[in-house]
Amino acid sequence: MLLVNDIDVYYGNIQALKGVSLEVNEGEIVTLIGANGAGKSTLLQTLSGLLKPKRGGIEYLGESIAGKPAQSIVKAGISHVPEGRRVFANMTVEENLDLGAYLRKDRAGIAKDLAHVYELFPRLLERRKQQSGTLSGGEQQMLAMGRAIMAKPKLLLLDEPSMGLAPLMVKNIFSIIEQINKEGTTILLVEQNANMALSVANRAYVLETGKIVLAGTAKELQESDEVKAAYLGGL
Ligand SMILES: Nc1ncnc2c1ncn2[C@@H]1O[C@H](COP(=O)(O)OP(=O)(O)O)[C@@H](O)[C@H]1O
Ligand SMILES: [Mg+2]
Repeated sequence: MLLVNDIDVYYGNIQALKGVSLEVNEGEIVTLIGANGAGKSTLLQTLSGLLKPKRGGIEYLGESIAGKPAQSIVKAGISHVPEGRRVFANMTVEENLDLGAYLRKDRAGIAKDLAHVYELFPRLLERRKQQSGTLSGGEQQMLAMGRAIMAKPKLLLLDEPSMGLAPLMVKNIFSIIEQINKEGTTILLVEQNANMALSVANRAYVLETGKIVLAGTAKELQESDEVKAAYLGGL
């Protein structure tokens, strides 16, 4: 579904991604783990058209999307839930969800997906008229994910959904990620919480200072001494 081939991405003169290659197959949950500053968010921003690779290719469903405008990438079926959620604080929950569907015209489909988002996240239904800025961090994460689902993605990019959340909420969010995947959405999940990410993923990549240093099935990485020492608290 997604083939990233040897991309270099820069901020000015600073190179943030160095020859990164990875692939995501339809139906998978693939996770990209790595420490703060490794380049995880840079990769997702490049996939969703917010940054342009200086070199290398990105193929999605057989077409090149490297450097395409973000809007056309959303239209093609890639939705990005950014780090830190970025919900519109002064708008209600439902207004934020409606915004997720702004490129769609199929009214019946939009209404059906809104009902489905409220099924996935009953908390959002309870709070649909509430200003989004008053939600808890976990609820804002649900809202950001719900907004992305309203774009009807085939591929969902999630940037550190667990960040800053209490353990119980992290469990809740991850079980919803698994459910969204079971319903047919392919997922590329970026996380510092390697433990949780590897527990839901099929395959995984480890990113260190802009380079992929390890790749394998989630099980292989869970059992790797390197990953255990660096990312799983040495357990
Ligand atoms: N807007 C920016 N301008 C300059 N450097 C940036 C910018 N955003 C990120 N970087 C740098 O790029 C590298 C990768 O950052 P990022 O992709 O945010 O890492 P991660 O998401 O893994 O924490 C870091 O060294 C970071 O300081
Ligand atoms: Mg990041």
